[in-house]
Amino acid sequence: MSDEVPTRTAHPTADAPAAPDLPRAGDVPEEAWSGVHRGPLRPGEWVRLTDQKGRRHNICLEPGKRFFSNRGHFDHDELIGREEGFTVTSSAGGEYLVFRPLLSEFVVSMPRGAAVVYPKDAAQIVAMADIFPGAHVVEAGVGSGALTCSLLRAVGPWGRVSSYERREEFAEVARRNVGQFFGAPAGSSHPAWSLTLGDLAEALPASGERVDRIILDMLAPWECLDAAADALLPGGIVCAYVATTTQLSRFVETVRVHGGFTEPTAWESLVRDWHVEGLAVRPGHKMIGHTAFLVTARRMAPGQRAPMKKRRPAPGAYGPDYTGPRPAGIPVEPTD
Ligand SMILES: C[S@@+](CC[C@H](N)C(=O)[O-])C[C@H]1O[C@@H](n2cnc3c(N)ncnc32)[C@H](O)[C@@H]1O
Repeated sequence: MSDEVPTRTAHPTADAPAAPDLPRAGDVPEEAWSGVHRGPLRPGEWVRLTDQKGRRHNICLEPGKRFFSNRGHFDHDELIGREEGFTVTSSAGGEYLVFRPLLSEFVVSMPRGAAVVYPKDAAQIVAMADIFPGAHVVEAGVGSGALTCSLLRAVGPWGRVSSYERREEFAEVARRNVGQFFGAPAGSSHPAWSLTLGDLAEALPASGERVDRIILDMLAPWECLDAAADALLPGGIVCAYVATTTQLSRFVETVRVHGGFTEPTAWESLVRDWHVEGLAVRPGHKMIGHTAFLVTARRMAPGQRAPMKKRRPAPGAYGPDYTGPRPAGIPVEPTD
């Protein structure tokens, strides 16, 4: 017997066209820790009901239980055993679309302690902070565990996400949410996840962790930059998620002053839905205009410094009114 392991993405050859890459039957392997199930809906699973006005309800399927709304009721048993992606009609004629929730839907409807990282930003973080399968990632704070779910999905069961949180009540919310999303048996959790209670600035150095990526979602990420720099491997990435321009400025300037990172990149992402109906094709009237800003920078090797920026700062950028961290070589401009 050949030792070669067949892969689903084997390259086709000229004389042997590839077989169509059909989905494998059965459920997603449990050991993938995807948080996703295929196949018929089972008791104990969460499903998302969407009514004709777009209102959503999340319910946990229980044999013998009944769902009630202002459009009548239906029994959970009518859903259990069916493949998701169907419509159920209530006793008063209300129609509900039935699907298992996606990760992006779960995180915006799960119980919250602290504000969550929205899916559009979690996607940016996974892409731009280059979270890869097998990566060792540190995040703080864990808050409600929304970003944790995306990070765990991206690193997979062979990676590691070490979350730090200084408030026990938020840590508890995150434990419940992450456990629910990944379907961890009671008393256990995703195998790649650890959650440490404490302030990252103290707990990370104490842990001795050396990691590939560090994501900071907290009020004062600059206070954790030294700890992050010491824990990051050369080439690693620090990524901060901050809500206000003052936080953005302080974090970027602190990274510059530290000297052990490349020039930080700062951006935000704006996502706008479009209305597409016949000739009426236009941007939606509403959008989430602002969530937060993102900053990334790469860790230099020990003792190495990135080349100084050649361009001079914009006039007045570090003038007398500027009171934040001052990068080396930038003098205080005299007042007029
Ligand atoms: C906005 S929430 C994080 C939300 C989380 N990323 C999510 O997606 O659900 C910020 C959290 O950081 C925690 N925090 C703030 N400073 C911290 C620090 N220095 N070390 C650990 N946790 C910290 C707060 O207690 C709070 O729970």
